Amino acid sequence: MSNEIVLTGIKPTGKVHLGNYIGAIKPALQIAGTSDCTSLYFIADYHGLTFIQDRDEFNTLSYSIAATWLALGLDPDRVIFYRQSDVPEIFELSWILSCLTSKGLMNRAHAYKSIHDKNEQLGLDSDTGVNMGLYTYPILMAADILLFQSDKVPVGKDQIQHVEIARDIAEGFNRIYGDTFKLPDYIVDEKTAVIPGLDGRKMSKSYNNTIPLFEPAEHLKKLINKIKTDSTPPQAPKNPDTSNIYLLYKEFATPAQVQDFRNKYLNGISWGDAKQELFQVVNAYLEEPRKKYNKLMVAPVQIDDILNEGARKARAIAAPLLKKVKLKIGRYN
Ligand code: ADP
Ligand code: TRP
Repeated sequence: MSNEIVLTGIKPTGKVHLGNYIGAIKPALQIAGTSDCTSLYFIADYHGLTFIQDRDEFNTLSYSIAATWLALGLDPDRVIFYRQSDVPEIFELSWILSCLTSKGLMNRAHAYKSIHDKNEQLGLDSDTGVNMGLYTYPILMAADILLFQSDKVPVGKDQIQHVEIARDIAEGFNRIYGDTFKLPDYIVDEKTAVIPGLDGRKMSKSYNNTIPLFEPAEHLKKLINKIKTDSTPPQAPKNPDTSNIYLLYKEFATPAQVQDFRNKYLNGISWGDAKQELFQVVNAYLEEPRKKYNKLMVAPVQIDDILNEGARKARAIAAPLLKKVKLKIGRYN
């Protein structure tokens, strides 16, 4: 194993959808599958708490994210897979870092800034609906990243700024106390940066246009049938490269199936038939993971065992570094 550390967190704020899978989970699993790095994947449940304040929903969503990753093939023996709130060292570091972080840096962080600016436009108090967790969200994320000396952080485009903030915070600490934290880099997969949803906009929980990953087959079919298409007549040749159905198909089919599907587009296939074929490949691909997911969700004890073991491994890395940090700031004992 090389010393390269790859780390990413997943916020449990809603049902996982095809966009999350293609844009974030699939590439991260590919990285985890390569043996020349140490991978840490965690459920960022306390980040989720900034949005989800219903206790049952919070609990279920955290398990659901964990079950999703396990069902899709994350091997907890090869990666360190844990729940953020099981690693108290992260929160202690987060406080230390917050004392070294300027408020102005947080004012510029995009999640806070967009709510702030919207409030101003609406003539509301600029901090309406902003809790302190949301405001300092990037500091907790910096602690997540820095505490494990992460080299690479695979994220979606929207998280690039947060990784840059983590880097700034690390530099600030190193400047005052001497070289301590590694400076992390983000990894963004440009190809799959934006998977379109049912209405053609980016697939997102916020737009209510998603195809959740583990819906029962019948519902999956219904949703796929809702994908927006144009009015090209059924027999007319169609351009696969501008089709959202084709784009999704490519992610779930074998190369031979993709070639075959491409030819059908060029020779003319009705949108109804194209959707039917998309359903077939997506459903076949997700059938086994869906069974595994449902099995895990009715026996969350199994998930707990895995996450507890992961937290043990994570803390074994986190505790010595936190100790070093405490020494540097003047906690000598
Ligand atoms: P949502 O937009 O549904 O709230 P999140 O912001 O929770 O999704 O995103 C979780 C991860 O999935 C991030 O890494 C994000 O970049 C990725 N992701 C979300 N939507 C898409 C999409 N439509 N296409 C590609 N990746 C996506
Ligand atoms: N903020 C990330 C998101 O919304 C989740 C996250 C929390 C994260 N901590 C992290 C991602 C550390 C990468 C590294 O998707």
